[in-house]
Amino acid sequence: MTISTSHLLKEAADIVVRKQLDFKLDSSLPKYWFENNPIKTRLMDAVCATFPEGEKYFIVSVRHFREQIKSRKLLNDVADFIQQEAQHGIVHTQFNDFLRQQGLPIDKLEKNLKTKLENSGKTFSPEMNLAITAACEHITAMFAKCFFEQQATMQGVQDPRILAMLAWHSIEEFEHKAVAFDVMKTVAHVPYAMRVGAMLFLTADMLSEIFINAHSFLKADGFGPVQRAKFIGQGLVWGFSPKGVLAPMAKPWLNYFKPSFHPNQEGTVDQYPLWLEVYAETDDPILAGQAFHRAGKTAPSRKPLLRGLFQRLA
Ligand SMILES: [Fe+2]
Ligand SMILES: [Fe+2]
Repeated sequence: MTISTSHLLKEAADIVVRKQLDFKLDSSLPKYWFENNPIKTRLMDAVCATFPEGEKYFIVSVRHFREQIKSRKLLNDVADFIQQEAQHGIVHTQFNDFLRQQGLPIDKLEKNLKTKLENSGKTFSPEMNLAITAACEHITAMFAKCFFEQQATMQGVQDPRILAMLAWHSIEEFEHKAVAFDVMKTVAHVPYAMRVGAMLFLTADMLSEIFINAHSFLKADGFGPVQRAKFIGQGLVWGFSPKGVLAPMAKPWLNYFKPSFHPNQEGTVDQYPLWLEVYAETDDPILAGQAFHRAGKTAPSRKPLLRGLFQRLA
């Protein structure tokens, strides 16, 4: 199967609503599914666990401005965005059930996050909530690219069901990555300072939330304080060292601060069309996810984080 490269990168993808995809998520999923590594798995679980409540917040933030949208295309995009995010919420609720079965404090996490996001809705203006949503959409699309661009990054995820769930979510984040941003810019007219302020606020809030939740998951797993501290240190190195897994996100994160930034200036991954092709042929998101992962780049192309930052600032 060949990968068509004619319509990838730096062009808007079509937003396709796909419903009731079956990833066969059940209690037979492996506990430490990311390289059989407790901290890598629990950090990824901590990201995933926020999705059901997070997706609801994104939908509410964008829907607030729907009546003011004049463009027929943007109205359609918003409708598709809402449906895609709703499907992500459904599937990640199933994944949260799997985490709950392991004894992780998912109920507490969801309750706290729901309260926090409701307070955000009451405390901040609709424009600020939309700016937070647009920032989060950019981070989600960057995250998707970061984890699937290089085949090696997800090589340790042996279970094809979890791999496929994350691949599908990534595909759809690529497709709708500009929707909240376009509503923010062309309908809500959010000023630059609020847009970048929301990104700074969100980045700090999200990172602290992920590490705090991963720590509580490790505690529920029965690891003692010393082992948990060691794991958190390993997680910080895994994510943020110069050759860390998140190093490729430095440049696109900084790009958000350009006044002329638009999400479609950022590419997706070369194998995006392959997922579409395999899914169209097989109607099987698990096969599509496996093909998508296998088609990732095999040659290293990352710049170390600090070198990338210095080059941006030079
Ligand atoms: Fe999503
Ligand atoms: Fe999204």
